[in-house]
Amino acid sequence: MFETLKTQHAAIKDRKILDLFDAQNDRAADFSVALGDLHLDYSKTQIDTDIRAALLDLANTRGVSAYRDAMFAGQPINDTEGRAVLHTALRDPDGAPLMVDGADIRPDLRATLDRMNDIATRIRSGAFTGEGGTITDVVNIGIGGSDLGPAMATLALAPYHDGPRCHFVSNVDGADINDKLQDLDPKTTLVIVASKTFTTIETMTNAQTARDWMVQGGGDSGKQFLALSTAEDKTAAFGIPAEQVFGFEDWVGGRYSMWGPIGLSLMIAVGPENFAAFLAGGKAMDDHFCTATGADNMPLMLALVGLWHHQICGHPSRAVLPYDQRLSRLAAYFQQLEMESNGKSVAMDGSSLDYVSGPIVWGEPGTNGQHAFYQLIHQGTGVVPCEFMVAAKGHEPDLHHHHQLLVANCLAQSEALMCGRSLDTARDMMAAKGLSGDELERQARHRVFAGNRPSTTLIYPQLTPHVLGQIIALYEHRVFVEGAILGLNSYDQWGVELGKELASSLAPLIKGDVSATDKDGSTAALLDYVLKRA
Ligand code: F6P
Repeated sequence: MFETLKTQHAAIKDRKILDLFDAQNDRAADFSVALGDLHLDYSKTQIDTDIRAALLDLANTRGVSAYRDAMFAGQPINDTEGRAVLHTALRDPDGAPLMVDGADIRPDLRATLDRMNDIATRIRSGAFTGEGGTITDVVNIGIGGSDLGPAMATLALAPYHDGPRCHFVSNVDGADINDKLQDLDPKTTLVIVASKTFTTIETMTNAQTARDWMVQGGGDSGKQFLALSTAEDKTAAFGIPAEQVFGFEDWVGGRYSMWGPIGLSLMIAVGPENFAAFLAGGKAMDDHFCTATGADNMPLMLALVGLWHHQICGHPSRAVLPYDQRLSRLAAYFQQLEMESNGKSVAMDGSSLDYVSGPIVWGEPGTNGQHAFYQLIHQGTGVVPCEFMVAAKGHEPDLHHHHQLLVANCLAQSEALMCGRSLDTARDMMAAKGLSGDELERQARHRVFAGNRPSTTLIYPQLTPHVLGQIIALYEHRVFVEGAILGLNSYDQWGVELGKELASSLAPLIKGDVSATDKDGSTAALLDYVLKRA
């Protein structure tokens, strides 16, 4: 399906990106897309007008707009699970009626959001108390989509945090919950058990540990436990009263769920008004995605740039590089979003893909990454397309110019990746240091930067709740477009099942309850090692 683009790529692959700027004065503006003050620049890539037109053609041919409309209309586009995909409705609870299985879903969304607002307000004001008085700490217990979203966003919006302290426990490793609970008071801590299915072994194990801790410490585990889940029968069986359960429907995928009840810890941290601004940011991106056409559509263009780099240029990974310390969990969040959604080998119709699936996503905030892995990005033999992000303004008073330095570093990196440093320049540098002959040549070669390495930059005024909502929805829709073009179901995750099943079968072996008879040699030997030392 990528023949035209591959031919175009073959013709231009050695072209200098810098030459594109020489050939077109307004390239930066032309190869950028905006939504209000949110600005995405993809001009530092090899994409030119013809390639962009071919990419947009591809999106048209693959029916992206019709598929998008089907998603927003509540059609069951998650067809391996027979479900609609309507996380977008969570950020629009007062919209026009939206029917799923013959019923309008908006009233329930509004009612749940009102209940979240109410309890968050009462917790924040001190009207909702624990056994020891005002709630001082909230512990969200969840994993994957029931952890990464609220954990990432609560950190991102730290300047807006004026509620109780929030902590996030996810790993089944007892070290996680132990370290998080050890300084908390069980009488003033609220535990939120966040699990769409309420069966996830990590979450349920941590929830039991937290309940024991609370009971032993004199807290009221009846009152001080909330549940966020689609499975009301299971929350009841765990002993959480219905009025402390915040439900949602199966048409909200785990990794898309932070906009609803799974976002309750974030709402408690920053307050209902800021949470509403976060939802409004997401909704603004939804409206833009549904109405902006062609190259004016930011999620569409971000997806097409990604597809170009991954499918056409063959770059296997992409780095997410926010120059924003508070976005330090963003790469982990995007990893789940992208890799759990589009890491598939089979197309919708069950046929094997004859192209690679979604890319590997990784990253760390700048400037820290610069002092760790940027060496490979600049001089490694492979190319890593980089997605930079930065705010024009920070939240801190900037007497010592932290933010100016941060922005300067961000812009310098994309400039360095594109411009590089030639061998001649490197030779001049070495000559200026007094080197000559073979040694000059040898040393110069180590100092060459090939350049011509692609990057995009997403720039925004400040990391507010509204902007964060825009950014997260932007990436959600980008994943949607990529999946639609690749013909995948981006909304199931069967690939996580086998490991879960095998872990359940191994647990009794590790306890020593049963002997390993059907395990491969390596697994049996590792098990033996543990049994002898545990
Ligand atoms: O194992 C993967 C997964 O199902 C994710 O998709 C999900 O976000 C996570 O586990 C947690 O699931 P739950 O919210 O049901 O506990």
